Amino acid sequence: MTYQAAPSRYIKMIYNKCGTSGLKLPAVSLGLWHNFGDDTPHDTKRALCHTAFDLGITHFDLANNYGPPAGSAETAFGEILKHDFKAYRDEMIISSKAGYLMWEGPYGEWGSRKYVIASCDQSLKRMGLDYVDIFYSHRFDPETPLEETMGALDHIVRSGRALYVGISSYNSEKTRQAAAILKEMGTPFIIHQPSYNILNRWVETDGLKDTLVELGLGSIAFTPLAQGILSKKYLQGVPQGSRAAQGKSLDPVTITPKALGSVQALDAMAHARGQTLAQMAIAWVLRNGQITSALIGASKPEQIIDCVGALENLTFTTSELAEIDAISEEKDINLWAQSSMSQ
Ligand SMILES: NC(=O)c1ccc[n+]([C@@H]2O[C@H](COP(=O)([O-])OP(=O)(O)OC[C@H]3O[C@@H](n4cnc5c(N)ncnc54)[C@H](OP(=O)(O)O)[C@@H]3O)[C@@H](O)[C@H]2O)c1
Repeated sequence: MTYQAAPSRYIKMIYNKCGTSGLKLPAVSLGLWHNFGDDTPHDTKRALCHTAFDLGITHFDLANNYGPPAGSAETAFGEILKHDFKAYRDEMIISSKAGYLMWEGPYGEWGSRKYVIASCDQSLKRMGLDYVDIFYSHRFDPETPLEETMGALDHIVRSGRALYVGISSYNSEKTRQAAAILKEMGTPFIIHQPSYNILNRWVETDGLKDTLVELGLGSIAFTPLAQGILSKKYLQGVPQGSRAAQGKSLDPVTITPKALGSVQALDAMAHARGQTLAQMAIAWVLRNGQITSALIGASKPEQIIDCVGALENLTFTTSELAEIDAISEEKDINLWAQSSMSQ
């Protein structure tokens, strides 16, 4: 059946300016890291994308390696673009990234000019696009001069392959250096993509969050639900079909009784606020306007509907914030720590 976007799609969504740039991003964006590989039925992927777009989620985030197998999420999204979203391309912000292992040999990962540009071309081909709206360096490469990786991003924009560029999981210091290089070249560098949630606050301790505001950069926080831990789903064990049950990126070992104790306390708080825990976790990420967008993932359309409901209450009292601070000591579940710690 031909997809028709909901006429109501722009009524409830909040759009935030991405730093000092002219681009606005939805307060909630959808990432295609999980549930868009060949192991998920195509109809599920379509339903997720349709639900998101109908709710005003204009931003879809991908990367070369999303799948499994790597590349299949971009291929699937390309199909959806072609068959369902063709008429809406100019209403969408599509991003992709290069940095993690994509193909064999010395040119298939990290940050060389050779890899980053070739990978961008492959992503465009898989998605059937002439350009992406944002192209990211997915992780800092300690073995490649930063000038080379940033130069590759600059080339990607100048050659028409992307409109804007971003970096992901770079720490505050590397972000400052990258920003200085890109400023010198006049590259439209507008966004950083770090992990950030109640159980993983490295962007605060590292100073990155304040650095981004100071540099006028936007930010899109990935894993705002700690891959689903910040919902009720793991309180009674690991349910079948959940991410922790799949043996992929969420090791059930990280869902410790201590972490679950925190989740229980947070769930009680959310209930008192009239929100689900997932909604409160998203509202918390967006709480003081420093983060442009919360980048969620979903396995079911209902989860996206629930997450967007977070926007109905983004305000926290001082005592609620203090309670969350007390609960949310770092839980060592920042899988991206290595990239952000690289010197
Ligand atoms: N730059 C990077 O290095 C990097 C790394 C990781 C992710 N990302 C980006 O960030 C995106 C989001 O990451 P993520 O998927 O880990 O984010 P997340 O939002 O923290 O976790 C998503 C998972 O939480 C569960 N969930 C979502 N909404 C829910 C709700 N309302 N109630 C209960 N459970 C809910 C689902 O788990 P179940 O599947 O178990 O149902 C879903 O798959 C990725 O798709 C990707 O675009 C970027």
